[in-house]
Amino acid sequence: MTGRVQDKIALVLGGARGIGAGIAERLAEDGARVVVGDRRAELGEATARRIGGSFVTCDVGEPASIRAAVDDTVARFGRLDILAQNAGIFPMNDIVDIPVEEWDQVLAVNLRGCFVATQAALRHMRKARYGRIILTSSITGPRVVPPGHAHYAASKAGINGFIKAAALENASFGITVNGVEPGNILTEGVQTERSPEYIASMVAAIPMGELGTPRDIGNTVLFLASDEARYITGTTIIVDGGQLLPEGKG
Ligand SMILES: NC(=O)c1ccc[n+]([C@@H]2O[C@H](COP(=O)([O-])OP(=O)(O)OC[C@H]3O[C@@H](n4cnc5c(N)ncnc54)[C@H](O)[C@@H]3O)[C@@H](O)[C@H]2O)c1
Repeated sequence: MTGRVQDKIALVLGGARGIGAGIAERLAEDGARVVVGDRRAELGEATARRIGGSFVTCDVGEPASIRAAVDDTVARFGRLDILAQNAGIFPMNDIVDIPVEEWDQVLAVNLRGCFVATQAALRHMRKARYGRIILTSSITGPRVVPPGHAHYAASKAGINGFIKAAALENASFGITVNGVEPGNILTEGVQTERSPEYIASMVAAIPMGELGTPRDIGNTVLFLASDEARYITGTTIIVDGGQLLPEGKG
């Protein structure tokens, strides 16, 4: 099936590479006019060109920058139908070593970024009485956690709580708010910031025997953005190749 988001206006934050690029690509393939927002301008512009979309510079750690990206999209296209806030950072540090600045930065991008982007989008979507908001959470935090991810886990579990509140407050406006919880997805970020040993240990922990792809997450976000998901709000979909299933080791 194609054209599931035909002519919808979509803004994908953190869309230059990795999962965000997978989301942008799938939305574009199914007919959306996609704006890629990212702090990496060169990469973001290249991704936008590749999928036939456009680019806006956006630092999701800066509220004013998020608002400008949302308003810029609406000014260019007249409305905003789909918001995917996917930008996220994932430093690893033992809980006793996490500098407060690092904690604040993880929470600012991953969690506050979701709030500010949602708030900015809602100002337009409520007037239109239509909207699809999809936030990238994680299995890390809401379900499981590896050592070193106290701040990251807190940010992602926070996203799940936020999704429920935002979904409830906007259900009567024709706006749905949902999330996707990726398991371990092979992205540029994972390849540069995680060791081959870490990646191999994750492969070993996944019943399907491989990491997921950005398109796996893009497909899920596309579904949540489509009319097929019109009655789904306030929830998350886990996409993890069965990683959460084993009851014990071995
Ligand atoms: N890869 C995984 O295994 C995995 C698993 C669960 C959740 N996630 C989540 O998926 C999202 C994407 O992860 P990824 O693996 O694709 O990472 P990635 O590093 O490959 O890509 C992240 C993108 O977000 C952008 N970004 C980062 N900080 C930004 C900021 N302040 N403002 C604007 N853009 C910013 C980057 O420039 C990049 O384009 C993150 O929220 C991450 O927490 C990833």
